[in-house]
Amino acid sequence: MTYENILSKTENGITYITINRPSKLNALNKATIQELHDAFEAADTDKDTKVIIVTGSGEKAFVAGADISEFADFDVKQGENLAAKGQELLFNFVENLGTPVIAAVNGFALGGGLELAMACHFRVASDNARMGLPEVSLGVIPGYGGTQRLPQLIGKGRAMEMVMTAGMIDAQTAHNYGLVNHVTTQEELIPLAEKIAGKIMRNSSVAIKGAIKAVNANYQDGVNGFNVEITEFGNCFGTADFKEGTTAFLEKRQADFPGE
Ligand code: COA
Repeated sequence: MTYENILSKTENGITYITINRPSKLNALNKATIQELHDAFEAADTDKDTKVIIVTGSGEKAFVAGADISEFADFDVKQGENLAAKGQELLFNFVENLGTPVIAAVNGFALGGGLELAMACHFRVASDNARMGLPEVSLGVIPGYGGTQRLPQLIGKGRAMEMVMTAGMIDAQTAHNYGLVNHVTTQEELIPLAEKIAGKIMRNSSVAIKGAIKAVNANYQDGVNGFNVEITEFGNCFGTADFKEGTTAFLEKRQADFPGE
């Protein structure tokens, strides 16, 4: 597939999705959101992809937000539609993918950029990264899940302060808050994400998919996460991966998971 606003390549089990509008600090316009959806969907259905790493091109930004020039003259209905469509196509879609998604935050992650990073399963950052939800400084609120996912990740009080001040936090503060799992240099960012991806890839992709579903169930209204865990746990017992994982353990050898 060819894209205009992103790059996508697969190597050694990892699909790298790079938002590629560096002259606009990788701001998310409508076309980019659609292309990201398509690339994530393609990676998720590709049997050669075990982990997805998403990052921004250039040295300055992961994503500096939704593209302000695209919605500056929207009315109420268009605004609501922008948030609803974006959440469905990209942010909720990424969160619920069965393939693990790591955000490698390589610079500014603001507004929709931080919301994209937060929709990923977890985040690593380079030491120049700066994160924030500046929407109220534009007279709007976060619309791609930011008001929900930021408090989930860092707690309500810290999230309220970040949203109300529209301020940015640096990578170290984001690490202290638990917003990113690791901080490293810009050069080491992708190698670090690859190292973590390598550890993930040794495990059963089928079991990981069930685990993602169970963890996410904790954050869904009206869903009992413990019951989802019970169902997903039970399902594992019918998989070839489970047979291989337990047999390999008993035979004292490394498991070679068939992925089914
Ligand atoms: N939407 C559209 N364009 C954006 C953008 C966004 N969210 N963020 C940056 N850009 C564009 C700028 O307009 C500029 O384009 P131009 O060269 O055609 O004028 C280009 O990207 C470079 O940005 P610039 O502001 O010149 O870089 P900077 O280093 O001076 O500042 C930021 C960097 C991130 C502090 C600044 O770009 C910024 O505040 N961006 C908006 C962040 C935001 O409010 N995001 C939430 C949107 S809901």
